[in-house]
Amino acid sequence: MADLNLDKTKCEEVRGLLLQLLGSTFALYLKTLGIHWNVKGANFRGVHTWTNEQYESLQGDVDAIGERIVQLGGYAPATFEEMGHLSQVMLAREFRDAGAMLRALVEDHALLVRLARKISQVAANASDGGTTSLMDSFIQSHEKLIWMLSKSIE
Ligand SMILES: [Fe+2]
Repeated sequence: MADLNLDKTKCEEVRGLLLQLLGSTFALYLKTLGIHWNVKGANFRGVHTWTNEQYESLQGDVDAIGERIVQLGGYAPATFEEMGHLSQVMLAREFRDAGAMLRALVEDHALLVRLARKISQVAANASDGGTTSLMDSFIQSHEKLIWMLSKSIE
């Protein structure tokens, strides 16, 4: 990419992976909202409040990833169709019990971390420190969430 002085081919590869992460993170944002809205039972207060923090954090992630795609010379899609097509996260058609939903979130955040690690490596190979740095902080925050979610359902 000319403006950022990055190799064009490598930059395209990074953008392609970032698009997958954008769609997947957007899907997890929606899924987390669904849990926030539909949770019921004894853990209502805790899960409702915690998922509020999570979807706000995911919203920030979606924004940062979309902005990075554009900084790398790409176009950041903003339609349900494109987000759904790009996502690797399966959305929930109905709310199950809170434990099952939190277990699903652990797997979804782990999927995002695997994708972000791959992007970090490809970006490092492209000397794209901006993306590497963004992915490393993304990984750190989602790994922390995986730890907290896992502990909450032990
Ligand atoms: Fe709310």
